[in-house]
Amino acid sequence: MKENVVIITGCSTGIGRNLAQTLFARGYRVVATARRLETIKDIPAALHLELDVTKQASVDAAISQTLTRLGRIDYLVNNAGHSVRAAIEDMDEKPAREMFDVNLWGLIRVTRAVLPHMRKRKAGRIIHVGSVVGKFTMPINGAYSASKHAVEAIANAMRVELKPFNIQVVLIEPGTINTQFMSSSIAKSQEQFDNSVSPYAKIYERFRTISAHPARKGALPKEVSQVIVRAMEAKHPKARYLAAVGPLYRAILIMNDRLRDSLMAKLFLK
Ligand SMILES: NC(=O)c1ccc[n+]([C@@H]2O[C@H](COP(=O)([O-])OP(=O)(O)OC[C@H]3O[C@@H](n4cnc5c(N)ncnc54)[C@H](OP(=O)(O)O)[C@@H]3O)[C@@H](O)[C@H]2O)c1
Repeated sequence: MKENVVIITGCSTGIGRNLAQTLFARGYRVVATARRLETIKDIPAALHLELDVTKQASVDAAISQTLTRLGRIDYLVNNAGHSVRAAIEDMDEKPAREMFDVNLWGLIRVTRAVLPHMRKRKAGRIIHVGSVVGKFTMPINGAYSASKHAVEAIANAMRVELKPFNIQVVLIEPGTINTQFMSSSIAKSQEQFDNSVSPYAKIYERFRTISAHPARKGALPKEVSQVIVRAMEAKHPKARYLAAVGPLYRAILIMNDRLRDSLMAKLFLK
């Protein structure tokens, strides 16, 4: 394991940052990447590289520099992601497309850049950081959830496509994690949330109240890192791992549509 090279996207904050630190401490050769190099300079790593997952040239440069300097890539962790929130009718197309460009197309871009190398070696493991909301959807989170549902579909296809090449694909499905994620999501959706004449103003208000509740603060990023380490080091990894998913979300996962809709209505329409 000591010599294994792992490249991680989105290491500036949150889960990516913690994972880079955790894997470095376990002896991995970590390639920490971020859109702005200055945000990761303090992370201990074998390499620090600029990588914006929305830019093909940036992706290609990061993968080729890794291969030139470290000679191989054993693991790719597709972690970069963000969310924008609004009712579907209120959702501006541009930020929603930009989100898909990171959460879905960014993940595909980086994966495709790494695959020729992994196929050639007939070895490798790809970890996609999805979300528990890749399995169910909450009001005003439809677009983000759609991007994470898409990640589930991509992973399901890739698991079988890559079997002949001895490359495993694993999905990590975190619950609520205490990172920049929520505040950046609210900031990106501020215009909709502040629109008091929106037909959905009440739901936005309700969401703000729910998300400000201390119980919604979420788990520490290290809980997700621990699950990712487990997925990386398992001899035969599972297709998907829930990570820091609390009892409410676990219950929602097994509800039928009628029950889930009525719970969501109770939470968001009261
Ligand atoms: N926090 C949660 O509750 C939660 C739950 C389920 C799943 N997740 C998923 O976990 C992953 C990590 O999120 P987090 O909670 O750690 O949030 P975070 O602290 O906001 O970190 C998100 C990371 O993604 C990076 N990123 C955004 N756009 C990028 C781009 N174009 N190219 C490269 N990097 C980019 C950010 O970099 P900048 O600093 O440059 O913006 C940041 O490093 C995401 O995929 C998220 O969807 C989070």
